[in-house]
Amino acid sequence: MAESPSKSMDKIMALCKRRGFVFQASEIYGGINGFWDYGPLGAQLKRNLREAWWRDVVMNPCGGLAGPDGRPVQIVPLDTCIIQHPQVWVASGHAETFNDPMVDCRETKARYRFDHVEVFVPAEGTGGDKPLFAFVSGTPSEQKQRRKAEKAWGSVKVVPLTSVPREQWPRVLAPEAEKVGSLTEPRAFNLMFKTYVGATATEDDVAYLRPETAQGMFVQFKNVLDSSRIKVPFGIAQVGKAFRNEVTPRNFTFRSREFEQMEIEFFCHPEHAFDWYRFWRDWRLGWWKSIGLGSDSLQLREQTQDELAHYAKDGAGTSDIEYRFPFTAPGFGEIEGVAHRADFDLSTHQKHSKTKLEYFDAERGELLPNGSHKGERYVPHVIEPSAGLDRGVLALLCEAYTEDASRASPELLLLHPRLAPIKVAVFPLVNKDGMPETSEKLYREVAEEFSTHGFVEHDVKAAIGKRYARMDEAGCPFCCTIDGQTAQDQTVTVRDRDTGAQERIALDRVVAYLRPKLGL
Ligand code: GAP
Repeated sequence: MAESPSKSMDKIMALCKRRGFVFQASEIYGGINGFWDYGPLGAQLKRNLREAWWRDVVMNPCGGLAGPDGRPVQIVPLDTCIIQHPQVWVASGHAETFNDPMVDCRETKARYRFDHVEVFVPAEGTGGDKPLFAFVSGTPSEQKQRRKAEKAWGSVKVVPLTSVPREQWPRVLAPEAEKVGSLTEPRAFNLMFKTYVGATATEDDVAYLRPETAQGMFVQFKNVLDSSRIKVPFGIAQVGKAFRNEVTPRNFTFRSREFEQMEIEFFCHPEHAFDWYRFWRDWRLGWWKSIGLGSDSLQLREQTQDELAHYAKDGAGTSDIEYRFPFTAPGFGEIEGVAHRADFDLSTHQKHSKTKLEYFDAERGELLPNGSHKGERYVPHVIEPSAGLDRGVLALLCEAYTEDASRASPELLLLHPRLAPIKVAVFPLVNKDGMPETSEKLYREVAEEFSTHGFVEHDVKAAIGKRYARMDEAGCPFCCTIDGQTAQDQTVTVRDRDTGAQERIALDRVVAYLRPKLGL
């Protein structure tokens, strides 16, 4: 199948709107920056990804794979509130450190993340008095500024704004600005959404929408331990909304202000933390591949010391699972982080809440004469695989998007059958000769079987080629067609979206034939 070498984000976004995957939030009012709604197909695709994660992480952890201790991996689910006690965010460090230094342009009023701004400077060094041209990589400003810089300096190179000495800032020309020196000093900017709990709305009632689902799991660690028979090592998993007042939301749903996370907090003995870190990092990478992200567009990257989040500094070890999005290519963008958080979270909540969050491990410590152990009390270390549901959906859509001019649908989505929002379509070849009745019957049978996992469609209108094309564009992996032969030998054609090949299958075997192919 002919695939275009580089995928156009504009075309992907247009398809998403046309076929009801993603809409701009509040579109009829002009939209609201950083917020996206999922249409009928998008809502089901997102649900399928969430459920695939839930099944493979919570219900059947790691598909039954043993952990580094040789035992089955144990995970329990949790569902905690978006609004937590404000002290949670003080203890977690978000209240103080959850901010990105920003620079404003006094002239254009645009605001940039300090560490996102780069500058074209002369290849020979920043001497002279001509302007230094600032831009944000991957935006139209990059090419514009490059042209101007090359005209001014001839040969140029790129350096981060963070490395440009302050005395040279008066020469920096901001993106889209006319005059140099318009960038302000970097300023801190808290990313948590503020709200008020209760009707009085005084400063005493301030609360925050959670910027990550993780903290709910640390705060309930003791209750989970006390209310279940679970023992360390084990994980708590949760899926839910998180909110960040991102300063520059961009790249479609990639950086949104409201998004959903799928997070695991895995608690283990400190001595085993690195083994679990490696285990989760590798298993999570394999999981994304198993649901259709190609290995050449996926990479695992160890974060550098500079990039580590505040909690990971002492844990030393964070890997990003990254996908090559059309807007990052040839670079990559993070879809999941796997962090070794050490005992940062439980210890800080223990300190701030004055509640013991230790674990008593009866199977460790000195061996006693009676053959039992003395036991050991410790604060578990945490490995956190934290995935973005919306970024996962976006990566799946980008990966699936395919152009093929030779097909009736020049644009189609090769979504993994397990994730596809429409599982199966059933058609009568023509709308007569008893075919619609037979197809209606098959449709009911197939829908009964698969509709908990996605749509099953029945379409009797339009030419058959058009109906196939519509399904290909929506990513439906299989179409069953009742034709003239069905009445004679009780078979139907089952068409494979990816190859266009058709197989004749007995009417009463269609469900059994499709089930394994749909990964259900
Ligand atoms: N508890 C750790 C944590 O929240 P993070 O790297 O900040 O770590 C985890 O976020 C994942 O959440 C990211 O890998 C990404 O997929 C997703 N995510 C973070 N910010 C996002 C945003 N503004 N829009 C969409 N997804 C986001």
